[in-house]
Amino acid sequence: MPIHQVLIQRRDGHDASSGPGDPWLLAALWTLAIVAVAAAVRLLVWYWPGRVFDGVTSHIWTALAWDLAHGHFYRPLLGPDGYGGTRYMPLLFGIQALLMRLGFDPIDAGVLLMQGSVLAAAAALYAALRAHQVPRGLAVPLALTVFGTVIYQQYCTDLDPDYLAFALAMSSVPLAVRSVRHHQSGWLFAAGLAVVLAALTKVTALAYLVPLAWWLLTSARPRAAAWFVMGTLALFTLAAGVRPGFAQDAKKGEAVYTAQKCSLCHQVAGKGNKTNPLDGVGAKLSAEDIRQWITHPVEAAAKAKSTKKPPMPAKYGSLPAADLDALVAYMQSLK
Ligand code: HEC
Repeated sequence: MPIHQVLIQRRDGHDASSGPGDPWLLAALWTLAIVAVAAAVRLLVWYWPGRVFDGVTSHIWTALAWDLAHGHFYRPLLGPDGYGGTRYMPLLFGIQALLMRLGFDPIDAGVLLMQGSVLAAAAALYAALRAHQVPRGLAVPLALTVFGTVIYQQYCTDLDPDYLAFALAMSSVPLAVRSVRHHQSGWLFAAGLAVVLAALTKVTALAYLVPLAWWLLTSARPRAAAWFVMGTLALFTLAAGVRPGFAQDAKKGEAVYTAQKCSLCHQVAGKGNKTNPLDGVGAKLSAEDIRQWITHPVEAAAKAKSTKKPPMPAKYGSLPAADLDALVAYMQSLK
Protein backbone atom coordinates (compact mmCIF):
# COMPACT_ATOMS: atom_id res chain seq x y z
CA MET A 1 0.00 0.00 0.00
CA PRO A 2 1.46 3.43 -0.91
CA ILE A 3 2.73 5.44 2.05
CA HIS A 4 0.12 8.20 1.87
CA GLN A 5 -2.70 5.67 2.00
CA VAL A 6 -1.27 4.27 5.22
CA LEU A 7 -0.85 7.76 6.63
CA ILE A 8 -4.26 9.13 5.81
CA GLN A 9 -6.47 6.10 5.89
CA ARG A 10 -9.59 7.05 7.72
CA ARG A 11 -10.93 5.23 10.75
CA ASP A 12 -13.87 3.85 8.79
CA GLY A 13 -11.36 2.15 6.48
CA HIS A 14 -12.28 4.37 3.58
CA ASP A 15 -9.35 5.23 1.33
CA ALA A 16 -8.94 8.97 1.56
CA SER A 17 -5.93 9.39 -0.74
CA SER A 18 -7.94 11.32 -3.30
CA GLY A 19 -9.60 13.55 -0.71
CA PRO A 20 -8.08 16.01 1.75
CA GLY A 21 -7.16 13.26 4.24
CA ASP A 22 -7.59 13.07 7.98
CA PRO A 23 -7.79 16.70 9.13
CA TRP A 24 -6.36 15.91 12.58
CA LEU A 25 -3.36 14.12 11.16
CA LEU A 26 -2.75 16.95 8.70
CA ALA A 27 -3.07 19.55 11.47
CA ALA A 28 -0.58 17.63 13.61
CA LEU A 29 1.89 17.37 10.73
CA TRP A 30 1.60 21.05 9.88
CA THR A 31 2.07 22.00 13.53
CA LEU A 32 5.21 19.87 13.65
CA ALA A 33 6.51 21.46 10.44
CA ILE A 34 5.84 25.04 11.56
CA VAL A 35 7.34 24.48 15.02
CA ALA A 36 10.37 22.79 13.42
CA VAL A 37 11.05 25.68 11.02
CA ALA A 38 10.47 28.31 13.72
CA ALA A 39 12.82 26.44 16.08
CA ALA A 40 15.42 26.22 13.32
CA VAL A 41 15.33 29.99 12.77
CA ARG A 42 15.48 30.59 16.54
CA LEU A 43 18.49 28.27 16.88
CA LEU A 44 20.41 29.99 14.09
CA VAL A 45 19.72 33.48 15.44
CA TRP A 46 20.76 32.30 18.88
CA TYR A 47 24.11 30.93 17.69
CA TRP A 48 24.88 33.63 15.10
CA PRO A 49 27.58 34.75 14.70
CA GLY A 50 29.95 33.70 17.49
CA ARG A 51 29.30 29.99 17.82
CA VAL A 52 28.84 28.85 14.24
CA PHE A 53 31.43 26.36 13.01
CA ASP A 54 32.97 26.11 16.46
CA GLY A 55 33.92 22.47 16.02
CA VAL A 56 36.74 20.34 14.65
CA THR A 57 34.81 18.99 11.65
CA SER A 58 33.78 22.46 10.54
CA HIS A 59 37.38 23.63 10.92
CA ILE A 60 38.68 20.82 8.74
CA TRP A 61 36.12 21.45 5.98
CA THR A 62 36.84 25.17 5.99
CA ALA A 63 40.62 24.53 5.91
CA LEU A 64 40.20 22.23 2.90
CA ALA A 65 38.10 24.90 1.17
CA TRP A 66 40.61 27.61 2.08
CA ASP A 67 43.46 25.56 0.60
CA LEU A 68 41.51 24.89 -2.58
CA ALA A 69 40.50 28.54 -2.95
CA HIS A 70 44.25 29.27 -2.82
CA GLY A 71 45.06 26.79 -5.57
CA HIS A 72 45.88 23.83 -3.35
CA PHE A 73 43.80 20.66 -3.78
CA TYR A 74 44.50 18.55 -0.67
CA ARG A 75 47.71 19.18 1.26
CA PRO A 76 50.46 16.58 1.08
CA LEU A 77 50.10 13.84 3.69
CA LEU A 78 53.14 15.19 5.49
CA GLY A 79 54.45 18.65 4.82
CA PRO A 80 56.22 21.55 6.48
CA ASP A 81 52.91 22.52 8.15
CA GLY A 82 52.49 19.09 9.69
CA TYR A 83 49.92 16.40 9.04
CA GLY A 84 47.49 17.24 6.25
CA GLY A 85 46.18 13.78 5.63
CA THR A 86 42.44 14.44 5.66
CA ARG A 87 40.91 13.22 2.45
CA TYR A 88 37.27 14.22 2.77
CA MET A 89 35.29 13.93 -0.45
CA PRO A 90 35.74 17.12 -2.50
CA LEU A 91 32.30 18.38 -3.56
CA LEU A 92 31.29 20.22 -0.37
CA PHE A 93 34.56 22.06 0.12
CA GLY A 94 34.84 22.55 -3.65
CA ILE A 95 31.62 24.59 -3.60
CA GLN A 96 32.76 26.47 -0.48
CA ALA A 97 36.07 27.28 -2.20
CA LEU A 98 34.18 28.51 -5.25
CA LEU A 99 32.06 30.81 -3.08
CA MET A 100 35.24 32.10 -1.44
CA ARG A 101 36.72 32.79 -4.86
CA LEU A 102 33.55 34.75 -5.65
CA GLY A 103 34.40 37.00 -2.72
CA PHE A 104 32.45 35.44 0.18
CA ASP A 105 33.97 35.32 3.63
CA PRO A 106 34.84 31.64 4.48
CA ILE A 107 32.31 31.43 7.33
CA ASP A 108 29.52 33.14 5.38
CA ALA A 109 30.20 30.82 2.44
CA GLY A 110 29.99 27.80 4.76
CA VAL A 111 26.76 28.94 6.44
CA LEU A 112 25.18 29.63 3.07
CA LEU A 113 26.26 26.21 1.82
CA MET A 114 25.10 24.37 4.92
CA GLN A 115 21.67 26.01 5.18
CA GLY A 116 21.25 25.88 1.40
CA SER A 117 21.90 22.14 1.48
CA VAL A 118 19.30 21.64 4.26
CA LEU A 119 16.75 23.45 2.07
CA ALA A 120 17.84 21.33 -0.90
CA ALA A 121 17.39 18.21 1.23
CA ALA A 122 13.82 19.24 2.07
CA ALA A 123 13.14 20.02 -1.61
CA ALA A 124 14.52 16.63 -2.71
CA LEU A 125 12.40 14.84 -0.12
CA TYR A 126 9.36 16.75 -1.35
CA ALA A 127 10.10 15.76 -4.97
CA ALA A 128 10.54 12.12 -3.96
CA LEU A 129 7.23 12.11 -2.08
CA ARG A 130 5.45 13.76 -5.01
CA ALA A 131 6.95 11.20 -7.39
CA HIS A 132 5.10 8.62 -5.29
CA GLN A 133 1.83 10.54 -5.64
CA VAL A 134 1.75 11.75 -2.06
CA PRO A 135 -0.69 14.71 -2.11
CA ARG A 136 0.90 18.14 -1.96
CA GLY A 137 -0.74 19.09 1.35
CA LEU A 138 0.91 16.08 2.96
CA ALA A 139 4.25 16.20 1.12
CA VAL A 140 5.04 19.79 2.20
CA PRO A 141 4.84 19.25 6.00
CA LEU A 142 6.55 15.85 5.69
CA ALA A 143 9.45 17.44 3.79
CA LEU A 144 9.71 20.27 6.32
CA THR A 145 10.22 17.77 9.16
CA VAL A 146 13.87 17.75 7.98
CA PHE A 147 14.20 20.87 10.15
CA GLY A 148 12.65 19.14 13.14
CA THR A 149 15.17 16.33 13.45
CA VAL A 150 17.61 16.07 16.34
CA ILE A 151 20.37 15.77 13.75
CA TYR A 152 19.51 19.19 12.36
CA GLN A 153 19.41 20.76 15.80
CA GLN A 154 22.74 19.21 16.65
CA TYR A 155 24.56 20.07 13.42
CA CYS A 156 22.91 23.23 12.06
CA THR A 157 25.74 25.37 13.42
CA ASP A 158 28.41 23.10 11.93
CA LEU A 159 29.63 22.62 8.41
CA ASP A 160 28.74 19.10 7.51
CA PRO A 161 28.38 17.18 4.22
CA ASP A 162 25.41 15.02 5.22
CA TYR A 163 22.62 17.29 4.01
CA LEU A 164 24.19 17.97 0.64
CA ALA A 165 24.86 14.24 0.19
CA PHE A 166 21.27 13.48 1.21
CA ALA A 167 19.81 16.13 -1.11
CA LEU A 168 21.73 14.78 -4.10
CA ALA A 169 21.11 11.12 -3.31
CA MET A 170 17.41 11.67 -2.58
CA SER A 171 16.92 13.56 -5.84
CA SER A 172 17.89 10.35 -7.63
CA VAL A 173 14.54 8.87 -6.50
CA PRO A 174 12.18 11.20 -8.44
CA LEU A 175 14.56 11.09 -11.43
CA ALA A 176 14.50 7.27 -11.50
CA VAL A 177 10.71 7.21 -11.09
CA ARG A 178 10.42 9.61 -13.99
CA SER A 179 12.60 7.48 -16.22
CA VAL A 180 10.44 4.39 -15.60
CA ARG A 181 7.18 6.28 -15.99
CA HIS A 182 8.16 7.95 -19.25
CA HIS A 183 10.39 5.15 -20.55
CA GLN A 184 13.26 7.57 -20.97
CA SER A 185 16.70 6.31 -20.03
CA GLY A 186 18.04 9.88 -19.93
CA TRP A 187 16.35 10.39 -16.57
CA LEU A 188 17.94 7.22 -15.25
CA PHE A 189 21.32 8.58 -16.28
CA ALA A 190 20.49 11.79 -14.39
CA ALA A 191 19.58 9.66 -11.35
CA GLY A 192 22.97 7.89 -11.57
CA LEU A 193 24.71 11.25 -11.88
CA ALA A 194 22.92 12.47 -8.74
CA VAL A 195 24.18 9.40 -6.83
CA VAL A 196 27.73 10.00 -8.13
CA LEU A 197 27.63 13.64 -7.00
CA ALA A 198 26.24 12.53 -3.64
CA ALA A 199 29.08 10.01 -3.28
CA LEU A 200 31.60 12.72 -4.19
CA THR A 201 30.18 14.57 -1.18
CA LYS A 202 30.08 11.60 1.17
CA VAL A 203 31.14 8.22 -0.11
CA THR A 204 28.55 6.21 1.84
CA ALA A 205 25.82 7.79 -0.32
CA LEU A 206 26.74 5.13 -2.90
CA ALA A 207 24.49 2.86 -0.82
CA TYR A 208 21.51 4.52 -2.55
CA LEU A 209 22.31 2.29 -5.50
CA VAL A 210 20.94 -0.74 -3.64
CA PRO A 211 17.29 0.30 -3.07
CA LEU A 212 17.11 2.00 -6.47
CA ALA A 213 18.42 -1.08 -8.27
CA TRP A 214 16.09 -3.28 -6.24
CA TRP A 215 13.16 -1.08 -7.19
CA LEU A 216 14.12 -1.22 -10.89
CA LEU A 217 14.38 -5.01 -10.64
CA THR A 218 10.97 -5.34 -9.04
CA SER A 219 9.53 -2.93 -11.64
CA ALA A 220 10.50 -5.58 -14.22
CA ARG A 221 13.43 -3.54 -15.53
CA PRO A 222 16.36 -5.88 -14.86
CA ARG A 223 18.47 -4.52 -17.71
CA ALA A 224 17.96 -0.95 -16.54
CA ALA A 225 18.94 -2.06 -13.02
CA ALA A 226 22.19 -3.62 -14.27
CA TRP A 227 23.07 -0.61 -16.42
CA PHE A 228 22.22 1.75 -13.59
CA VAL A 229 24.50 0.01 -11.07
CA MET A 230 27.41 -0.57 -13.44
CA GLY A 231 27.18 2.84 -15.08
CA THR A 232 27.00 4.69 -11.78
CA LEU A 233 29.90 2.75 -10.28
CA ALA A 234 32.00 3.31 -13.41
CA LEU A 235 31.22 7.03 -13.43
CA PHE A 236 32.06 7.30 -9.74
CA THR A 237 35.38 5.46 -10.17
CA LEU A 238 36.24 7.74 -13.05
CA ALA A 239 35.30 10.91 -11.17
CA ALA A 240 37.08 9.88 -7.97
CA GLY A 241 40.20 8.90 -9.93
CA VAL A 242 40.62 12.23 -11.64
CA ARG A 243 42.89 14.51 -9.74
CA PRO A 244 41.75 17.86 -11.05
CA GLY A 245 44.48 20.30 -11.72
CA PHE A 246 47.24 17.71 -11.83
CA ALA A 247 48.08 18.41 -15.45
CA GLN A 248 47.88 22.15 -14.80
CA ASP A 249 50.04 21.62 -11.70
CA ALA A 250 52.77 20.07 -13.83
CA LYS A 251 52.54 22.93 -16.33
CA LYS A 252 52.66 25.49 -13.54
CA GLY A 253 55.59 23.58 -12.03
CA GLU A 254 57.51 23.96 -15.26
CA ALA A 255 57.05 27.72 -14.99
CA VAL A 256 58.27 27.67 -11.36
CA TYR A 257 61.26 25.57 -12.47
CA THR A 258 62.15 28.21 -15.07
CA ALA A 259 61.55 31.13 -12.70
CA GLN A 260 63.72 29.54 -9.98
CA LYS A 261 66.49 28.87 -12.53
CA CYS A 262 66.82 25.21 -11.56
CA SER A 263 68.37 24.73 -15.01
CA LEU A 264 71.57 26.43 -13.79
CA CYS A 265 72.41 23.01 -12.34
CA HIS A 266 69.88 20.66 -13.93
CA GLN A 267 69.06 19.42 -17.38
CA VAL A 268 65.64 18.45 -18.72
CA ALA A 269 65.22 17.14 -22.28
CA GLY A 270 68.66 18.35 -23.33
CA LYS A 271 68.20 21.88 -21.96
CA GLY A 272 70.20 23.23 -19.03
CA ASN A 273 73.30 22.09 -17.16
CA LYS A 274 74.06 18.51 -18.16
CA THR A 275 75.87 17.61 -14.89
CA ASN A 276 72.57 16.81 -13.15
CA PRO A 277 69.96 15.51 -15.59
CA LEU A 278 66.44 15.28 -14.18
CA ASP A 279 64.94 13.21 -17.01
CA GLY A 280 63.31 10.12 -15.54
CA VAL A 281 63.35 11.50 -11.99
CA GLY A 282 59.56 10.96 -11.77
CA ALA A 283 60.07 7.23 -12.27
CA LYS A 284 63.16 7.06 -10.05
CA LEU A 285 61.97 8.96 -6.96
CA SER A 286 58.66 9.06 -5.09
CA ALA A 287 56.77 12.34 -4.73
CA GLU A 288 57.82 12.51 -1.07
CA ASP A 289 61.53 12.03 -2.00
CA ILE A 290 61.31 14.74 -4.66
CA ARG A 291 59.71 17.06 -2.15
CA GLN A 292 62.46 16.24 0.35
CA TRP A 293 65.13 17.15 -2.23
CA ILE A 294 63.51 20.52 -2.88
CA THR A 295 62.71 21.48 0.73
CA HIS A 296 65.57 19.75 2.60
CA PRO A 297 68.39 19.19 0.05
CA VAL A 298 71.13 18.85 2.69
CA GLU A 299 69.36 15.90 4.32
CA ALA A 300 68.39 14.45 0.93
CA ALA A 301 71.98 14.67 -0.34
CA ALA A 302 73.24 12.99 2.82
CA LYS A 303 70.67 10.23 2.44
CA ALA A 304 71.51 9.72 -1.23
CA LYS A 305 75.27 10.02 -0.45
CA SER A 306 75.48 12.72 -3.10
CA THR A 307 78.73 14.68 -3.04
CA LYS A 308 78.22 16.62 -6.26
CA LYS A 309 79.35 20.24 -6.22
CA PRO A 310 77.90 22.81 -6.12
CA PRO A 311 75.30 21.18 -3.88
CA MET A 312 71.64 21.94 -4.22
CA PRO A 313 70.81 25.17 -2.31
CA ALA A 314 68.45 24.93 0.66
CA LYS A 315 66.47 28.08 -0.16
CA TYR A 316 63.51 26.52 -2.00
CA GLY A 317 61.79 25.29 1.20
CA SER A 318 60.36 28.78 1.64
CA LEU A 319 58.53 28.78 -1.70
CA PRO A 320 54.72 29.05 -1.42
CA ALA A 321 53.10 25.66 -0.78
CA ALA A 322 51.23 25.77 -4.11
CA ASP A 323 54.50 26.38 -6.00
CA LEU A 324 56.15 23.47 -4.19
CA ASP A 325 53.25 21.18 -5.07
CA ALA A 326 53.47 22.31 -8.68
CA LEU A 327 57.24 21.69 -8.79
CA VAL A 328 56.77 18.19 -7.38
CA ALA A 329 54.00 17.50 -9.93
CA TYR A 330 56.31 18.68 -12.72
CA MET A 331 59.20 16.49 -11.49
CA GLN A 332 56.78 13.55 -11.26
CA SER A 333 55.77 14.08 -14.87
CA LEU A 334 59.41 13.56 -15.97
CA LYS A 335 59.24 9.83 -16.58
C1 HEC B 1 73.35 25.06 -7.36
C2 HEC B 1 72.93 23.91 -8.12
C3 HEC B 1 71.50 23.44 -8.01
C4 HEC B 1 70.34 24.16 -8.18
C5 HEC B 1 70.18 25.64 -8.48
C6 HEC B 1 69.25 23.20 -8.05
N1 HEC B 1 69.74 21.96 -7.80
FE1 HEC B 1 68.66 20.24 -7.63
N2 HEC B 1 70.36 19.22 -7.25
C7 HEC B 1 71.65 19.71 -7.31
C8 HEC B 1 72.60 18.65 -7.02
C9 HEC B 1 74.10 18.78 -7.00
C10 HEC B 1 71.82 17.48 -6.82
C11 HEC B 1 72.34 16.08 -6.51
C12 HEC B 1 72.42 15.31 -7.80
C13 HEC B 1 73.05 13.95 -7.66
O1 HEC B 1 73.70 13.66 -6.66
O2 HEC B 1 72.90 13.17 -8.61
C14 HEC B 1 70.43 17.87 -6.99
C15 HEC B 1 69.36 16.97 -6.90
C16 HEC B 1 68.06 17.29 -7.22
C17 HEC B 1 67.01 16.33 -7.29
C18 HEC B 1 67.14 14.82 -7.08
C19 HEC B 1 67.64 14.26 -8.40
C20 HEC B 1 67.94 12.80 -8.39
O3 HEC B 1 68.11 12.29 -9.50
O4 HEC B 1 68.03 12.19 -7.33
C21 HEC B 1 65.87 17.01 -7.64
C22 HEC B 1 64.48 16.44 -7.86
C23 HEC B 1 66.25 18.39 -7.78
N3 HEC B 1 67.56 18.53 -7.52
C24 HEC B 1 65.35 19.40 -8.15
C25 HEC B 1 65.72 20.74 -8.23
C26 HEC B 1 64.80 21.80 -8.50
C27 HEC B 1 63.29 21.60 -8.75
C28 HEC B 1 65.50 22.96 -8.48
C29 HEC B 1 64.98 24.37 -8.64
C30 HEC B 1 63.89 24.75 -7.75
C31 HEC B 1 66.88 22.62 -8.23
N4 HEC B 1 66.96 21.27 -8.08
C32 HEC B 1 67.90 23.54 -8.16
C33 HEC B 1 71.99 21.02 -7.55
C34 HEC B 1 71.11 22.06 -7.77
